Amino acid sequence: AIERTLSIIKPDAVAKNVIGKIYSRFETNGLKIVAAQMRQLSQAEAEGFYAVHRERPFFADLVKFMTSGPVMIQVLEGEGAILKNRELMGATDPKKAAPGSIRADFAESIDANAVHGSDAPETAAVEIAYFFPALSIHSR
Ligand code: CMP
Repeated sequence: AIERTLSIIKPDAVAKNVIGKIYSRFETNGLKIVAAQMRQLSQAEAEGFYAVHRERPFFADLVKFMTSGPVMIQVLEGEGAILKNRELMGATDPKKAAPGSIRADFAESIDANAVHGSDAPETAAVEIAYFFPALSIHSR
């Protein structure tokens, strides 16, 4: 089925100047960018976005990192977009990410891991709505 998923290019990858290289991977693999915004997240926005991780030991570091510089946030649309994006990203820990994946090629650590992608249809819907009103998504 045609799906939408939320993607974030994190501060490490924005600082490395590889937004275009990452977008190119989405596009050459059948994922269309249907909404996008560059943003500097506030602490409250980052905490809200990652609320499901609030009790995890890495939560404070995660919020600190995600507010350390601008991020590029996009909605990707395409056949099986959620799983396809996760395959393109590779494992959360770049040391375990498949060769040729975004995290293997651009990420340094499990914290500075270049990209975020929704992990399931329910989270994709919540995450997309968190950053994009329906009218700002352009899929035609
Ligand atoms: P992301 O997909 O953005 O979702 C939560 C983030 O927490 C994850 O990517 C990692 O960058 C970060 N993180 C740090 N430590 C861990 C961990 N032990 N397990 C999962 N995520 C972690």
